Amino acid sequence: MFGPALTGPRLALRPPSVRDIPRIVRWLGDPEVTRYWWTRDVPWAKRPAIAAAVLFVGGLRPNAILWIITHDGQAIGHCLIRHIDRTKRHATAAVLIGERSEHGKGFAAEACAIRNDFVFGRLGFDSLRATAMAENTASRRLLEKSGYRLIGNAKGATAADRQQEVLLFELTRSDYARLRTTGD
Ligand SMILES: CC(C)(COP(=O)(O)OP(=O)(O)OC[C@H]1O[C@@H](n2cnc3c(N)ncnc32)[C@H](O)[C@@H]1OP(=O)(O)O)[C@@H](O)C(=O)NCCC(=O)NCCS
Repeated sequence: MFGPALTGPRLALRPPSVRDIPRIVRWLGDPEVTRYWWTRDVPWAKRPAIAAAVLFVGGLRPNAILWIITHDGQAIGHCLIRHIDRTKRHATAAVLIGERSEHGKGFAAEACAIRNDFVFGRLGFDSLRATAMAENTASRRLLEKSGYRLIGNAKGATAADRQQEVLLFELTRSDYARLRTTGD
């Protein structure tokens, strides 16, 4: 499903629109943005138009929630949760800031915080998991900063033609609550 409108100090998360598709195609066609992104390793997903269509349609599935991240009304990336298990109350999360000029401004961290408030607060989930390629320092730092702990290697989530280690992180409800209260 597409996520509801949510707001933070600088950013807004909103449901995707078909008008976002050309922009998503551009993001997924930027080799710097997809350097550590799964679409780089899956043959059919190497075509940005197909990857964008799969992302968009996948966002409509009942076990996923997809948002477009906006700053000053401009779409700058997307974030999502998928593999939602409402019984076990967990899901897998990912975020992408597609506009390279917007990297390093704290936007991914803020988008994750907005999304996490929704996931733990409104949905009442107990945990979120995320994967990152070992050499994706930006993503690893982002996850650590957002309260995730490294819990091991991600089985079955290999970077196929790059022989890279893929790490598995988890954010628990208690770590989320602690971070929200104390900020550390
Ligand atoms: C990973 C990504 C989402 C980070 O987005 P961002 O908006 O630039 O990240 P933020 O500005 O919120 O930074 C979060 C933390 O990561 C650090 N960071 C960001 N880019 C970094 C880089 N290239 N190298 C090292 N650390 C980096 C920041 O310094 C910050 O930590 P700090 O507060 O301790 O300084 C962005 O680079 C991206 O979209 N990459 C492509 C998709 C991807 O790899 N997604 C993650 C897989 S789920």
